[in-house]
Amino acid sequence: MASLKGRVVAVSGAASGIGKATAKHLFSLGVNLSLTDNRKEALDAAVEEIKTQPLAEGVSAAPKVFARVTDVRSSAEVNAWIDETVKELGGLDGAANLAGVVGKHIGKHDVTELSDEEWAFVNDINLTGVFYAMRAQLQAMKKIGGGTPRSIVNAASTAGISGNAKNASYSAAKHGVVGLTRSAAKEVGRDNIRVNCVAPGVIDTPMVQTLFKEMADGIEKIVQEGQALGRRANPTEVGKTIAFLLGEDSSFVTGSIVTIDGGQIC
Ligand SMILES: NC(=O)c1ccc[n+]([C@@H]2O[C@H](COP(=O)([O-])OP(=O)(O)OC[C@H]3O[C@@H](n4cnc5c(N)ncnc54)[C@H](O)[C@@H]3O)[C@@H](O)[C@H]2O)c1
Repeated sequence: MASLKGRVVAVSGAASGIGKATAKHLFSLGVNLSLTDNRKEALDAAVEEIKTQPLAEGVSAAPKVFARVTDVRSSAEVNAWIDETVKELGGLDGAANLAGVVGKHIGKHDVTELSDEEWAFVNDINLTGVFYAMRAQLQAMKKIGGGTPRSIVNAASTAGISGNAKNASYSAAKHGVVGLTRSAAKEVGRDNIRVNCVAPGVIDTPMVQTLFKEMADGIEKIVQEGQALGRRANPTEVGKTIAFLLGEDSSFVTGSIVTIDGGQIC
């Protein structure tokens, strides 16, 4: 497997779920990490947890971990995160933009009942937040230059490939992430930068665990009746696919939506 050891990767949403699991996996591979989230205490706790990860075979020294609190809805904060990343870690080789939320009325409100506030909350974080992060990352990567291969992975969703009744703001934001990813991939390929997105299905993270409390029947129905493998995934299963997309083993993959959904969309 081509090594990511010693490279610098920025991860958002690192305090929980898929972001934390991805960071843990990358740490074990010897990747220098720049982690962010908008929840300071949870981010601090995640950093401590990530640093206890055992190192993989062939990784002799623990990589560096830099962390900064960022609300991805603020372009100024996002730009500062990426500027500081380059200063602290000496470069930027990859990024996983994984901060995200679901709306409060998921599974309850259809489009006619969707409030301006819910639409803005979900789209500001899930779509505009990814745009701000990817723009800052691409600007930094192009400025550093050097022609080394670089890679960005954004969080879409199976809801970004097919419509989701009573979840329109989230589905629209994730469809937006797909368009943003594919467009950027066409712009930066000649700079040796690849841009892909992952489309997870039902992954066992705090996001889904909260949903389970409110709409367990709906989610279990997707898992039991709408999916080939018939189970929820562990977030590390997503993190390992993200690591594959960040590394050179996926050197000809760009502009792709990689589903990690146990055979939900197939
Ligand atoms: N869990 C799933 O089943 C699933 C399925 C498809 C897509 N996804 C996507 O994967 C990504 C990660 O989801 P997860 O399940 O790990 O969720 P999670 O809730 O466990 O983690 C999301 C993290 O994002 C952070 N965050 C939220 N708003 C933020 C903001 N404004 N600025 C910075 N950070 C912010 C949260 O604090 C949290 O730590 C999201 O984009 C989500 O939409 C998840």
